[in-house]
Amino acid sequence: MCGIVGYIGNELAAPILLDGLSKLEYRGYDSAGLAVRDGDKTIEIVKAKGRLKELKEKTDGGMALKGSCGIGHTRWATHGEPSTENAHPHHSDDNAVVLVHNGIIENYQFLRDKLVKNGYSFYSQTDTEVATKLIDYYYKKYKGGPVEAMARSMMRIRGSYALAIMFKDYPGEIFATRRDSPMIIGVEGDAAYLASDVPAILKYTRSVYYIDNMEIARLGKGTVRFCTVDQEPIEKQPVQITWDAESAERAGFEHFMIKEIHEQPRVVTDTINSLVREGRVDLSEAGISEEMLRSFSQVHIVACGSAYHVGVVTQYVMEDLARIPVRVDIASEFRYRRPLLTPDSLVIIISQSGETADSLAALREAKSQGVQTLAIVNVVGSSIAREADHVIYTYAGPEIAVATTKAYSTQLIVGYLVSIELAHARGQIDDGEYGRLLTELRTIPEKIERVIEDKERIQWFAAKFSNAREAFFIGRGIDYAISLEGSLKMKEISYVHSEAYAAGELKHGTISLIENGTLVIGILTQEALYEKMISNMAECKSRGAYLMGITNYGNYNTEDTADFTVYIPKTDPHFTASLAVIPLQLLGYYLSITKGLDVDKPRNLAKSVTVE
Ligand code: AGP
Repeated sequence: MCGIVGYIGNELAAPILLDGLSKLEYRGYDSAGLAVRDGDKTIEIVKAKGRLKELKEKTDGGMALKGSCGIGHTRWATHGEPSTENAHPHHSDDNAVVLVHNGIIENYQFLRDKLVKNGYSFYSQTDTEVATKLIDYYYKKYKGGPVEAMARSMMRIRGSYALAIMFKDYPGEIFATRRDSPMIIGVEGDAAYLASDVPAILKYTRSVYYIDNMEIARLGKGTVRFCTVDQEPIEKQPVQITWDAESAERAGFEHFMIKEIHEQPRVVTDTINSLVREGRVDLSEAGISEEMLRSFSQVHIVACGSAYHVGVVTQYVMEDLARIPVRVDIASEFRYRRPLLTPDSLVIIISQSGETADSLAALREAKSQGVQTLAIVNVVGSSIAREADHVIYTYAGPEIAVATTKAYSTQLIVGYLVSIELAHARGQIDDGEYGRLLTELRTIPEKIERVIEDKERIQWFAAKFSNAREAFFIGRGIDYAISLEGSLKMKEISYVHSEAYAAGELKHGTISLIENGTLVIGILTQEALYEKMISNMAECKSRGAYLMGITNYGNYNTEDTADFTVYIPKTDPHFTASLAVIPLQLLGYYLSITKGLDVDKPRNLAKSVTVE
């Protein structure tokens, strides 16, 4: 997946394009490029392998490129290794068509072969060059103009794409279309902008248009027109973006990740407030009624990565409160295992970006079986949000760090609230319990704040273990679900291998790996399982493990077993993941920066995996 930008107006285009790309580097950053045009002069294309700063240096911060119309791209390689040849923009041999792309074209090899038979040659290994030359082929063959050539190509292309295109014969215009890859378009004064995501253009405009799948946009100076593939005009109203530019920047923190960890109390409050009114959970904006909730006999939760870990927590909470069967699936497994869904199933897709390819495919699989789908998503207007029957937005705001923190925490909140409302609708909890749970939930933001205040101790502990080669995270029940997220945080940003284990499983093999000094992190927030957890940790200690414990205030005897203990404020056992995850986020963060790693952009990872 990649980031694309476009600009057309009266200013120098290249610096604006580079600024936009710098806000999209989290979407991919192994190479980048610009195509800029001055009036009706030749389109100039400049590309560079490596981080965006390479391109900035190559173009003198964009000042070396004249012209007020252009497109830009930052890449996360899918077809073809990172290189200048494979970097975007791609172009036809005579520069009649110049294009940037985010997505993956699944039938690109077939199309490439057809084009070769029609006299085309290729300089790169990318699917994007194929798309470019396919449009060029139709443009030259039928002479129907850009939109017609794009439409014909869209009928032939299978896969996902967000395309921004310049045509040599159409100076002063940018053409765009999308299918399953994100794109927004903004207009401000005599300028028009396009980008993969809001932060790239927020500095220039808050008034954006969401272009839907298979629609075509035509951008001019301060104008945008939309049409269908049949060239039928489409009227659209702009959406006002409430995010301020600051919230997409670092706000004074050293890294986006630590900034976003500190934002959790606020965004958790915002998410609770978005769904709880006058002491009641209100799902009406998602189109979900109590009657509908009562109609479900089972729930499937499907997601990837940390969002999947939210699903595991929600499974424990929802089954315990609502007494309904809940199954959790990794999306890339769900979509291929021919899932058995009864007509009265509810499928919940959890996704921060709303663009994760496997989660989007899982949603479509569920819809193909005719069951109700609910998306829990952070990005307004994202593909999963638009295609689900019902959508509940988390209010995490833009999450820039690749390792999720605040989005995870707000997804938990939505999971709790849906579980509570489902339990009440099904008569499994009475009004008193319902009110008690909602009242307790409102204390979570302040309790998160208190855990964050303990960060210096965790920073000290991370420094102590900066040379750790491996770690084990263990827990039972919800604590096992929390250990999954703690392990992923450590792996993805500090590159220390770790495993999350159900503590009761250790004796079935894994405990043979425990050696002298092995780091074992036990999560002990479930009071009913506390003693069993202490026994499991003692088993590890007797084999030489160094033990860190995360438990509730008051369980001070944990220190009789654990070498280092972090305490979290007491709360309802259903909500402890919201508190116990904070030390684990901080541990991963501090371990990463202690090792001098790029914590916001870990190697090999991208913020949203929009390809399989
Ligand atoms: C979590 O820190 C990772 N960035 C990753 O596991 C992420 O949660 C996963 O790719 C799902 O992304 P989504 O929520 O945007 O669908």
